[in-house]
Amino acid sequence: MTAFHEKTPEQAPALKTFVSALEELVQTSDELQADFWPRLQAAMQALVARDDWLPDSVAVPHPEYYQQYCLHVDAQERFSVVSFVWGPGQSTPIHDHTVWGAIGMLRGAEVSQDYACDANGKPFETGQPHTLLAGDVACVSPTIGDIHRVSNVFEDKVSVSVHAYGADIGRVSRHVFPLEGGSPKTFVSGYSTQVAR
Ligand code: FE2
Repeated sequence: MTAFHEKTPEQAPALKTFVSALEELVQTSDELQADFWPRLQAAMQALVARDDWLPDSVAVPHPEYYQQYCLHVDAQERFSVVSFVWGPGQSTPIHDHTVWGAIGMLRGAEVSQDYACDANGKPFETGQPHTLLAGDVACVSPTIGDIHRVSNVFEDKVSVSVHAYGADIGRVSRHVFPLEGGSPKTFVSGYSTQVAR
């Protein structure tokens, strides 16, 4: 029998269940339907309710950069699932997603601050920062709020969250918003490891 830590992400039963739920979701709904967000949130809550399934190979921090490991890409690129691994004190720039997303906190904690941009493209904070603890779920999208900055709450330990997005997120052209304003910078995130296709 293969030791759990040697399994690929795709083999984890909890992830298989989540992927099946998302396949069902995107076949039968979309983000403009009333049932979409509750179903997405429920599936993500079930996935991060237990922290016993994520293979060690996709929970490895980098000393300088937060990591984005691809766990699954839908064959039709209707969605993807990623593990975000935050080293101590690491954070993203202010960025958007351009597609729907669900964030489930698996291990540790992260804090997200929402932003909007003024007429000169300068980002400003909207609302209070919100902290996700293990088991918590949050959502983003162009229709509900899509620009934020996310940081590991901890300066001395690793945090891990699992994200699902409504596209192959590693290949999506999206934006980083400079603090000083001006034109957003287009970026494509890719993944921290090569993805088999
Ligand atoms: Fe984000």
